[in-house]
Amino acid sequence: MTPPALHFLIFAALLLLSKTRAATDSSQTEYTLTNPKLPPPNTLSTSKKYEGSSDLVNLRYHMGPVLSSSPINIYLVWYGRWPNYQKLLIKDFILSISPAAAAAKPSVSDWWRTVSLYTDQTGANVSRTVLIAGEHSDHLYSHGKSLTRLSVQQVIGTAVESAPFPVDHKNGIFLILTADDVTMQDYCRAVCGFHYFTFPSMVGYTMPYAWIGNSAKQCPEVCSYPFAVPGYMAGGGPAALKPPNGDVGVDGMISVIAHELAELSTNPLVNAWYAGEDPTAPTEIGDLCEGLYGTGGGGGYIGQVMRDNKGRTFNMNGRRGRRFMVQWVWSPVLKACAGPNALD
Ligand SMILES: *[C@@H]1O[C@H](CO)[C@@H](O)[C@H](O)[C@H]1NC(C)=O
Repeated sequence: MTPPALHFLIFAALLLLSKTRAATDSSQTEYTLTNPKLPPPNTLSTSKKYEGSSDLVNLRYHMGPVLSSSPINIYLVWYGRWPNYQKLLIKDFILSISPAAAAAKPSVSDWWRTVSLYTDQTGANVSRTVLIAGEHSDHLYSHGKSLTRLSVQQVIGTAVESAPFPVDHKNGIFLILTADDVTMQDYCRAVCGFHYFTFPSMVGYTMPYAWIGNSAKQCPEVCSYPFAVPGYMAGGGPAALKPPNGDVGVDGMISVIAHELAELSTNPLVNAWYAGEDPTAPTEIGDLCEGLYGTGGGGGYIGQVMRDNKGRTFNMNGRRGRRFMVQWVWSPVLKACAGPNALD
């Protein structure tokens, strides 16, 4: 190779490099603000979305514990077939909750700050730090592809024995994530996720857990809203929003994971923070803000969020340059839904 040709190649390579660098940078920094109006979701029958601020929301403390021990240790169960890139995306979200996760503002850890404003009767706050303490892949569907609220505890029991997971009463919770081909009792009709606690007869001891499913094939217009909108709106009408990571099922699931983690942390044994008189149907801090992602939401608007130069919407940043779209949660201080991207 002659020197001039070599020089040209090096020059071209440098040019290419700087171009890619610039493209990456601008996709990280350039965005516009938007408050889209969308067709109403196929709401869950139990949806208790509350828009705006109110003293009428009677969220009360019922004397039980909150997750105040630091860190909150999550024992993750991947049930069914989970591609690695989806696992990484979900883990990046979870690991973005702790303040140590370096992320641009508005950040996931600022979003969790609202959750950490909840205290128990000793005045201890919900922990600000969340770790993934253990993982188990149940890729052979040990309890089949059709689960119930009770059989999900058998899934936990199997994971506890196979992983094995330690008995972590002080800090531990289970998080069970099911693949898009797994059905769950009440899924898509009444719930997109739920949290409860395990029974000694099923798992060996009592520990809080949350379950969330990937709705991509079953009901994205319910559980991955606003990245999928009801089918009857197809043709004419506003379109679904573009998910921040290009995965309708998982990007939608992340907001449900956030919702359940917030509620589980403030009401782990279903005797701490909830509204309503019936503990079997509590209205919790995520329920009050379902579908709300920014300032000026309500009446069909999701609130002001960000849209990047590829049209992808998001409202907060996470570790490793990740972006997420996560619903707001109820603040006990503001007595309103709150999030890190709020316009003051
Ligand atoms: C704990 O919660 C209280 C009440 O919401 C709040 O005023 C305080 O700032 C919180 N403390 C920490 C360390 O987050």
